[in-house]
Amino acid sequence: MVVKAEAAPDAPRSVTILGSTGSVGTQTVDLVSRDPERFPVEALTANRNVTLLAQQARQLNARMAVVADPAAYAELKDLLSGSGIEVAAGSDAVAAAAERPADWVMAAIVGAAGLEPTLAAVRRGAIVAFANKEVLVCAGALMMEEVKTHGATLLPVDSEHSAIYQVFDFERTDSVARLILTASGGPFRTRDRGFMAAATREQAVAHPTWEMGAKISVDSATMMNKGLELIEAHFLFGIPEDRIDVLVHPQSVVHSLVEYVDGSVLAQLGTPDMRTPIAYSLGWPARIATPAERLDLVKAATLTFEAPDPVRFPALRLARAALQSGGGAPTILSAANEVAVQAFLDRRIGFLDIERIVEETLAALPHRPLRDLAAVREADADARREAAGRVTAIGATAVGSR
Ligand SMILES: NC(=O)c1ccc[n+]([C@@H]2O[C@H](COP(=O)([O-])OP(=O)(O)OC[C@H]3O[C@@H](n4cnc5c(N)ncnc54)[C@H](OP(=O)(O)O)[C@@H]3O)[C@@H](O)[C@H]2O)c1
Repeated sequence: MVVKAEAAPDAPRSVTILGSTGSVGTQTVDLVSRDPERFPVEALTANRNVTLLAQQARQLNARMAVVADPAAYAELKDLLSGSGIEVAAGSDAVAAAAERPADWVMAAIVGAAGLEPTLAAVRRGAIVAFANKEVLVCAGALMMEEVKTHGATLLPVDSEHSAIYQVFDFERTDSVARLILTASGGPFRTRDRGFMAAATREQAVAHPTWEMGAKISVDSATMMNKGLELIEAHFLFGIPEDRIDVLVHPQSVVHSLVEYVDGSVLAQLGTPDMRTPIAYSLGWPARIATPAERLDLVKAATLTFEAPDPVRFPALRLARAALQSGGGAPTILSAANEVAVQAFLDRRIGFLDIERIVEETLAALPHRPLRDLAAVREADADARREAAGRVTAIGATAVGSR
């Protein structure tokens, strides 16, 4: 479970942003750039978008810029020549960037690729703003153990977990009856399975309330995102799976809720703008101003809630089952999902093939206990291989106009 650490002084805080060119990354850059004296930048990292990375590094006067793809090194070096900004490339260099002495590290890489760099930040006891949920899903228990051992502070950035963090009673966890994660329901909330079977990439990434990266947008459309968040919430707050519920709330105003044993329910509300939860973690324990639109409940007028539909959205059931099964099951779930979502984004499989590949991969592989990180990497690699084989098999049949 995350532990609320002692309040840090309201002083300058050096920052590193892992995944600075992504959706969460650019919004973090936006907030940091509004107060450069308070938030000096140590390092920025990206996968291969060197144009944006170089521009951010110059704008924020970063000490270092790192690109994961070694093939992009020469271009990054060229773009930053004469700036005095250090340049490096490769996945080891991304992890090394996280080891540099920034007070605060934003973990906003997408997928299990964020595991090593997040771990590097945790192992030096940094404040880690945690967006990269796949890392907790694939290595939850081990990651939380590392957080405890090294005295790191994990601040959730996912809007749902940030909401829970803000209303969770860390002193009296016995008084928590249940966590309620809200879900927008995604772009296919009211669609039938026939529509989903033919859904295109463009339809799946068109999220009704949030603007996000492609992978998480597809995860929202399948509702696997909520499944991953359920697993994330379990590890972050130490609440068992059967006391974590999901509620579909299309307006995305109530970001999540905690129910207490006396029947009180505490929630955090706000307009759907990721800069609010990012700012909560950036300023924590102080609050910092953001340009996010203020919540006007009169304008919002109606807030609605409905139960998720397990028939149209089986991903939630798969995630619950993986968490109950334990061991490497969540690792397999997340890795197979990453492979399948990428294949869908590449138009190699259909939308409903995603959940099928995840379910079949979970059924095909043993759910071994995860004693160490080597076991996590092995379960992750096995699942990717298994899921990729299924993508290839589906790809052998025509995918028409996808
Ligand atoms: N977007 C949201 O509103 C939101 C909300 C809650 C939680 N999250 C979580 O936050 C994480 C990031 O989401 P996002 O939407 O910001 O994703 P995104 O827009 O796709 O950005 C991903 C970032 O990671 C970098 N990256 C990708 N693959 C990498 C690799 N192999 N090694 C190193 N860096 C790599 C990308 O670099 P390039 O730009 O060079 O590709 C980019 O900077 C995800 O885990 C997501 O679930 C996102």
